[in-house]
Amino acid sequence: MTMKKVLITETINEEGINLLKEKFHVDLINGITKEELKEIIGEYDALIVRSNPKIDEDVIKNAKKLKIIGRAGNGIDNISLDAATKRGIVVANTPDSNSMSACELAIGLILNQSRNIAQADAHLKGGGWNRDRFMGTELYGKTIGIIGLGRIGSLLARRMAAFGMNVIAYDPYISDERFERFGARKKEHLRELLEEADFITVHTPKTTETIGMIGEDEISLMKDGVRIVNAARGGIIDEKALYRGLEEGKVASAGLDVHQVEPCENNPLVCLPNVVVTPHIGATTIEAQQNVGRSVADQVIKGLAGEIVPNA
Ligand code: NAD
Ligand code: MLT
Repeated sequence: MTMKKVLITETINEEGINLLKEKFHVDLINGITKEELKEIIGEYDALIVRSNPKIDEDVIKNAKKLKIIGRAGNGIDNISLDAATKRGIVVANTPDSNSMSACELAIGLILNQSRNIAQADAHLKGGGWNRDRFMGTELYGKTIGIIGLGRIGSLLARRMAAFGMNVIAYDPYISDERFERFGARKKEHLRELLEEADFITVHTPKTTETIGMIGEDEISLMKDGVRIVNAARGGIIDEKALYRGLEEGKVASAGLDVHQVEPCENNPLVCLPNVVVTPHIGATTIEAQQNVGRSVADQVIKGLAGEIVPNA
């Protein structure tokens, strides 16, 4: 009997790869393009992806044997669920596996903005010693507005409360009890959060509703000197509007792990001195990648055995 074939398009943790290799033929083609994937996807029974390439209808129509797509992570905005469902392909993600890491990175981006750590580091390494240039602001006593109080937003709420911040949140899809449980004051309307918060951080999925949910109008409602974090998905905050807000001084600073186009190409935000950027590394920790690797391998093993796939 020929072995089933699994294709992995971005490195996952070795333990996960080894679990798969016990049962299947596994190919790892890091950085494969969509065009290349379209050419070879027909040979594979399972596909494991992280953020790239996009798995759209074009790819899926060539996936003649594919039974399961494992998303080694949470967001599934890079996979066409409709196209996969039409062909009976299971799509499974690993939503809990990297929440803590993503939350901790968001905290890093918040702290960086309050204390200019990355900028001061570059300054000192460049031979400078100008302490006045890096006047910071305490988190203590400030208000943080969390948009989306799901897995990551709720972890963040508890942790920012421990810094002595007032935590407010906007999430129209959850119960009042959840706001209470995580110590966040509920805002019925996004506008109220935008008007009150000193720091704003987004933690929603990328959907037709959330794309551009923070644009020019929303930024104009914010406090002068607001600080903004996006470690959710590029495009939830409109990058042109954010650039304008930063240039005009309305927005004091931003911390961005995710970007409208990834990898970033000629993104002017990246060059602003009051913006700290990271290349979508929210889940890039040993722990998250161990969790993700194990979970996605388990899902593919179950999916190809015709068993129930957790989280599918
Ligand atoms: P989740 O599904 O647990 O929570 C999302 C929350 O957003 C839910 O409570 C939902 O009700 C709320 N929401 C949906 N639409 C909303 C809207 N229009 N307004 C306000 N709230 C809304 O998701 P999560 O696991 O917390 O992930 C949050 C985001 O972080 C996702 O976009 C995910 O892809 C991203 N993520 C990024 C990284 C990274 O590496 N940077 C890692 C993990 C997850
Ligand atoms: C996710 O959705 O899980 C993240 O974006 C992390 C990743 O893709 O590595």
